[in-house]
Amino acid sequence: MSERVTASLNTYRTLPKVELHRHLEGSLRLTTMLDIAKQHGITIPADVLRLSTLVQIQEEDKFTFQNFLSKFNTLRLFYRSPDVIHRITREAVEDAAKDNVKYLELRFTPVALSRAERFPLHDVINWVIESAEEAARKYHVTVKLIASVNRHESAELAEQVAWLAAEHIPNGVVALDLAGNEAEFPSQPFYGIFKEARQAGLHVTIHAGEWGPAEHIREAIEELGADRIGHGVRVLEDKTVVALAKERGTAFEVCITSNYQSGVVEKLEDHPLMKMFEKGINVTINTDDPSISRITLSHEYYNACDTLQMPQYTLKERILAAAQAGFLPQQEKEKLTSQLKKDLNL
Ligand code: ADE
Ligand code: ZN
Repeated sequence: MSERVTASLNTYRTLPKVELHRHLEGSLRLTTMLDIAKQHGITIPADVLRLSTLVQIQEEDKFTFQNFLSKFNTLRLFYRSPDVIHRITREAVEDAAKDNVKYLELRFTPVALSRAERFPLHDVINWVIESAEEAARKYHVTVKLIASVNRHESAELAEQVAWLAAEHIPNGVVALDLAGNEAEFPSQPFYGIFKEARQAGLHVTIHAGEWGPAEHIREAIEELGADRIGHGVRVLEDKTVVALAKERGTAFEVCITSNYQSGVVEKLEDHPLMKMFEKGINVTINTDDPSISRITLSHEYYNACDTLQMPQYTLKERILAAAQAGFLPQQEKEKLTSQLKKDLNL
């Protein structure tokens, strides 16, 4: 990494941050994976560099959504015990806190975490809740949880996750997310599940307009009741969807490096973040999968400002916008916002 990048990154490290879009399964430390592999006799390459090629994006990789999603399949080998799930949750919160994230919405995929050992979904959800709470206290960061379901997996299991998530609203689960293979799997089988989730008091965020057209964003807002859109970078392809998102004040969880690495944009410099912002879209800046992408939120703030020319003042405003779009109760939101305003000199 060049000296300029390093110097500049440090300035972003000190900023207080808000992260609305981070997957637990995309946040595992490589060193932790090696430990787990040893403890559980998982046959994977025993050195960090070779393991990295299986679970992280490499410069020589094909930057396609298929390759990006393939990393999650390898990661599923590691979810072998309650201790593992406790540990990766604690470490994900710790890593965010070390990057000066003050408010973190961590999303997790119970079906993925339960798969290798057939853990009951309710156990997996409890383990993540317990460890997120413990780490939030220890590392002085506010954490809320989002339960995620994949479009390319069973709607029956998604329905179970939705019900369990709703039961755990009092324990910090705030929303339901639809993720996965947007290019090949429609959201229609999930309409009823998201409707019930909303009625049960969960917020809704939907991965849309990432690997699919702007029309998917309309569907997410109108049919799935999305409060927020994951990515949504293809919104500019349809003026009427831009207008809809503006009218509803829908927040967009933009993840610059992830979009580059999964082939949404050909070059980092081509990312439409600033065009979205200039059209009045409520953009926020997030990591998606920090370990898979080998980034921190500081890197993404650097990318927004230094690669995509977002003014520093706008970045600060977008951090506040992210706090405003957070799924936390009004009183907590006001407290977070006023603290951020102070710390950001706004
Ligand atoms: N799961 C984890 N990261 C994702 C992404 N960028 N898109 C869809 N599903 C995901
Ligand atoms: Zn995502």
